[in-house]
Amino acid sequence: MTVHFIGAGPGAADLLTLRGQKLISSSPVCLYAGSLIPEEILQFCPKNAKIINTAPMSLDDIIEEIKSAHQKGQDVARLHSGDLTVWSAMGEQLRRLREENIPYEITPGVPSFSAASAALGIELTLPGIAQSVVLTRTSGRASAMPEKETLEAFGKTGATLAIHLSVHMLEEVTSRLMPFYGKDCPVAIVWRASWPDQRIETGTLATIIDVVGEEKGRTALILVGPSLAQEGFENSRLYADDYDRRFRPRGTSPRFPETAEIEKN
Ligand SMILES: C[S@@+](CC[C@H](N)C(=O)[O-])C[C@H]1O[C@@H](n2cnc3c(N)ncnc32)[C@H](O)[C@@H]1O
Repeated sequence: MTVHFIGAGPGAADLLTLRGQKLISSSPVCLYAGSLIPEEILQFCPKNAKIINTAPMSLDDIIEEIKSAHQKGQDVARLHSGDLTVWSAMGEQLRRLREENIPYEITPGVPSFSAASAALGIELTLPGIAQSVVLTRTSGRASAMPEKETLEAFGKTGATLAIHLSVHMLEEVTSRLMPFYGKDCPVAIVWRASWPDQRIETGTLATIIDVVGEEKGRTALILVGPSLAQEGFENSRLYADDYDRRFRPRGTSPRFPETAEIEKN
């Protein structure tokens, strides 16, 4: 028996991984984390599977369900939205499973920041503009931010920010970031990326509040940073014709002569 923690992806059922789908189809118990897991994904569960929405449950209740499946030797598919490495509350479940000696495995999923960037049609890292993406949030009722992880601290780096769980704090987010990125810095907000009711609004740190208006919704990602403009950057050296690299040796003394030799033969 294994508990399969599965990243269910950002919303669209066909963004679930093939491995995730296979594990869901073969697990007689499915615990899923509320409304961010689409119905179509639950339809991959086997007929007669026990399917439980864990949104109203406590951690103890969830662990009891898993222990009961463990006693029966039944695999569990444990679904969380997006990927499991960020804001899934997986860590506290894993800790309990380790204490109970219940085996588990993790299958990654497409995170919402990837789906939001895909919806915008952009790359978040551009040569000379931004080479880092910070996945962050503002303080919430469930988790306070550690003292040093402030928007100001990340803002000082100039990196592209992907701010989760914070669209209801849009005014505060923009005013705190403005001193670091400037009022003309591009901002994009993507609500429910990859769902049929996906919504996108774009503007600058100065204008985005008016662009969005009163209807702030809940499930949205705020992306901030100069890279969002997708202009003013050089090509990377990666595809430059004279760039000598392992799989495309160039020049009279290539860095990887053995590959050059193989290529010649
Ligand atoms: C509890 S966190 C889960 C994050 C998830 N584990 C991930 O990999 O993206 C929920 C927050 O993620 C963001 N989010 C999740 N799904 C989203 C989507 N489809 N579109 C935009 N933002 C999303 C929102 O900021 C939302 O408030």
